[in-house]
Amino acid sequence: MKTLIEKITAENIEKQVHNAARLIKEGGLVAFPTETVYGLGADALNPQAARRIYQAKGRPSDNPLIVHIADPAKLTQIAERIPQRAMALGERFWPGPLTMIFPKKDCVPLATTGGLETVAVRMPDHPVALALITASTGFIAAPSANASGRPSPTLAEHVYLDLNGRIPMILDGGPVGIGLESTIIDFSEEVPIILRPGFVTKEMAEAVIGEVRLDPGLKIGEAIAPKAPGMKYRHYAPKAELILVRGCQDKVVHTVNRLIEEAEEQGQKIGVISTDETYLCYPRGIVKNIGARKDETVIARNLYGILREFDQLDVDRIYSESFSEQGFGQAVMNRMLKAAGHRVLEV
Ligand code: TXA
Ligand code: MG
Repeated sequence: MKTLIEKITAENIEKQVHNAARLIKEGGLVAFPTETVYGLGADALNPQAARRIYQAKGRPSDNPLIVHIADPAKLTQIAERIPQRAMALGERFWPGPLTMIFPKKDCVPLATTGGLETVAVRMPDHPVALALITASTGFIAAPSANASGRPSPTLAEHVYLDLNGRIPMILDGGPVGIGLESTIIDFSEEVPIILRPGFVTKEMAEAVIGEVRLDPGLKIGEAIAPKAPGMKYRHYAPKAELILVRGCQDKVVHTVNRLIEEAEEQGQKIGVISTDETYLCYPRGIVKNIGARKDETVIARNLYGILREFDQLDVDRIYSESFSEQGFGQAVMNRMLKAAGHRVLEV
């Protein structure tokens, strides 16, 4: 199968979306931009189409898909027992980087929900995504458009590298805005629970609806499995071993430089994820600058792209500085720790 990359412009959006929507209606797959990461879309209410997503990504079939809508009023067609608090959260954050989980209606096939009786729903904030959902069937199941186990795509080129030959079309809307996947909040139990941290933080949600809990399974070293099946996999994994180095800046820089020196003497190729503040402090190794320490939004936007760059450079190991876990930093560190398989060096 040949994979077309269609660059979207103001002039061609209508025609491109029309062609892509036809593919979706026929049960096919289309990768498209959202404000978080690129998604791999199919008709959410067609089990055969949903199965094609799992095949193309090589995704385990017990890992459920998020159903994307373009109109909040469509929520009641696929979900049940939607609490008032969820409606309030939707009003505040949709369209946007928030996914909510409810008991599913019968029309949503188990092929889409990975066999679960609940459904995850999100209204993305991206003109191409919204136009595609509206022009197709109104319900698009879409996981991140990476091959299973790879970092989520923040550029159409990332999708192409992972899925070339496996899907017919990629709508190229340029770089995404946020760069990390949406916050997932589960409303299928009494107190809403964050199953995956994202741009919408616990504090932001609590300001609208009161108490929200964090899935205890997300904590490091916790014996309980996370409730979102996808969070249990070692996702976002670069090819090289990634090690986070945590401590005061001077010590981190000093330790990393020493480790680079040792490794290079043994003929190893070492990558470093540094910041605006430290970029010039590493004389050796292959050094990438992820952005200013104080701005998590920039760090988030650069993270997956940098992990992919290191894959292409075939480094043997990556040392990364670690970041604040406040606010959106919690989501950034959640992804980094997963990519690192929780390897942290305290200095
Ligand atoms: O930002 C995003 O959410 C992106 C864009 C494309 O919208 N999508 C995305 O999908 O990240 P995916 O499939 O890569 O991640 C979905 C996560 C997985 O961890 C999955 O296990 C969890 O959501 N999930 C989906 N439905 C669920 C359900 N009914 N119960 C628990 N977890 C669910
Ligand atoms: Mg994913």
